Amino acid sequence: MGLLDGKVAIITGAGGGLGEAYAKLFAKEGAAVVVNDLGGARDGTGADRSAAQKVVDEITAAGGRAVANGDDVSTVQGGENILKAALDNFGQVDILVCNAGILRDKTFANTSEEDWDAVIKVHLKGTYCCALPVWKWLKDNGRPGSMVLTSSTSGLYGNFGQANYGAAKAGIYGLVRVLSIEGRKYGIRVMGLAPGAYTRMTSDLPGRQGREPDPMSLPENVAPGVLYMVSDLAADHSGKVLGVSSRGVREIKMLETEGFNPGRPYTAQEVAENAAKVFFADDKARTLASA
Ligand code: NAI
Repeated sequence: MGLLDGKVAIITGAGGGLGEAYAKLFAKEGAAVVVNDLGGARDGTGADRSAAQKVVDEITAAGGRAVANGDDVSTVQGGENILKAALDNFGQVDILVCNAGILRDKTFANTSEEDWDAVIKVHLKGTYCCALPVWKWLKDNGRPGSMVLTSSTSGLYGNFGQANYGAAKAGIYGLVRVLSIEGRKYGIRVMGLAPGAYTRMTSDLPGRQGREPDPMSLPENVAPGVLYMVSDLAADHSGKVLGVSSRGVREIKMLETEGFNPGRPYTAQEVAENAAKVFFADDKARTLASA
């Protein structure tokens, strides 16, 4: 018995990195998988359909079921084609992992409009383009489903040099929250993911160049956390963000202080005087900005 027996999963950007590990694990757990990948470079340029096909070949060689799709997640047509690949080949869809992504890191002052647009388009619009057709199909067919939308600590906490990427990833967090609320009446669960893994996207981060990766940070050691999220093991959870990395699995949450509220008009000076109530006194939350 696999955790995903009888399920059909779409995983975007699954021609390498984390998506490839999800695809292989989901297939091993019984899901039929649509392996989407445009197959471009890390900055989003170029395309090579063989990336997705290679993963499919490996899944089928291991006895699993999978089909390759080379569409661009960042177009409405691409998102519709990806759903069509699931329906044409497997007749249904139950799980969507929006994982495809690109990186164009620059300090804010050096970020061109093109870099801004490209990153927002693949991550934020790409999540919209892929989630919407699946959402409508699930809703129209009265079927429950689960979605994992990939955010990042860069968007949730902030990270130097990632204005475009962080903005896109924070937008995805907002989408998780809204869709989890709208999805309640349809039985559609939507979870947010802040992964951490050694992939081509992160292999040259400061401190990582030329060093052997920590085995726990390899995508295959991160994938079980995401399998948990899409499976019925997490049936009670929606609208939550999990950090899944070599540090294990943990919830990342937006919090509010008790605050300063005198119940009457107040001055800016009074806010300053009550700063201890406004701000978290004991800020132990991990913030990359202050790390
Ligand atoms: P990766 O670069 O190995 O994989 C991303 C995949 O997305 C690539 O195979 C690429 O060809 C594909 N892709 C890019 N644009 C596409 C498009 N328009 N249409 C279809 N496919 C497209 O990167 P990695 O690390 O596996 O990242 C996966 C996701 O996790 C991304 O959303 C990334 O932002 C996110 N993430 C990863 C972290 C990490 O530590 N590796 C940290 C935080 C977030």
